[in-house]
Amino acid sequence: MKKDLIDITDLTTEEIDGLITVAEDIIANPDKYREICKYKKIATLFYEPSTRTRFSFESAMLDLGGSVIGFSSPTDCSVAKGESVADTARTTACFADIIAMRHFKDGSAFVAASNVDIPVINAGDGGHNHPTQTLTDLLTIHKEKGTFENLTVGLCGDLKYGRTVHSLIAAMARYKGIRFILISPEELKIPEAVKTEVLEANSIPYEELTSLEEAMPKLDVLYMTRIQRERFSDPSVYDKLLGIYILDNKKLESAKKDMCILHPLPRVNEIDVEVDDDPRAAYFRQVRYGKFIRMALIMKLLENAPNAEGPYIEGAEEFPPDVKKCKNPRCITSIEQGIKQQFIKTDSGYRCIYCDTKA
Ligand code: NCD
Repeated sequence: MKKDLIDITDLTTEEIDGLITVAEDIIANPDKYREICKYKKIATLFYEPSTRTRFSFESAMLDLGGSVIGFSSPTDCSVAKGESVADTARTTACFADIIAMRHFKDGSAFVAASNVDIPVINAGDGGHNHPTQTLTDLLTIHKEKGTFENLTVGLCGDLKYGRTVHSLIAAMARYKGIRFILISPEELKIPEAVKTEVLEANSIPYEELTSLEEAMPKLDVLYMTRIQRERFSDPSVYDKLLGIYILDNKKLESAKKDMCILHPLPRVNEIDVEVDDDPRAAYFRQVRYGKFIRMALIMKLLENAPNAEGPYIEGAEEFPPDVKKCKNPRCITSIEQGIKQQFIKTDSGYRCIYCDTKA
């Protein structure tokens, strides 16, 4: 069965912990992973602007030895001619092994996933969810704080339209001793459904505040967000709210010495650049972690892909020098379609990974 990542709760807590362990191993031993996705392709279908998310998906696949196709704007492909998400996804599945898709409509990644038999990763669907940003945020918190338990997490800014916030709450609510402080203006409060179905349903303590200063001394993690201009139907409301929270060194004076500051980025003006030199500012480290956790995710989802072309053996090669196919007429590769010839190097030369015959 193929596995998609549409909503962060598609992953169990154990699976998330497993991805974090793999990502940390990739950081420590990148060479081990250089060829794991050789001959695999990711398609990045981005209907909305992106810098970090798309670059990190693409560099994740490249660092796993795979390759990348895709578009970074819907004007670059048949979407501009009116093609539907389902048809674009179906077409892409003819060429790629896995899809990462960002779209301006909520639920769009789910539509893509329902129409193809390759894994689909939601790289942000409207103001709804952004599960791989959450994986990035979790890896950052794990690196900075060493734990997910007993933390007071402050989320500040646009909690209504900020899709990263919705996914992060859903993920962190599953860890022991988590408390949330939700800091936003009245107009940008967290959606009721997040409150009732995630926080209240799981008896997670939370408070809603409008003042960042009031929350500051209590926080172990401060997650700042941008006011999501593109989601407002009335631009004058955006203009009124822009600049409502600006984190600067003065406000940080009352914060814990070991608090960490995250932001999914891009920032507009909600974190003054003077904060960048504060050791608690983790948001550029967070960008870097995004690639490693996406490498771990791509590997995990491709394991379950129906079109995996054969078993993976570390170090196996498809076309070693002067070898085209296995010489053994009884080898399964002589009759089975859709599996790749692969060979592993031994002290006495290359041998077929299926039947052990010397090449
Ligand atoms: C976020 C997004 O696209 O939702 N950015 C990102 O993926 N790193 C946050 C934002 O755009 O404000």
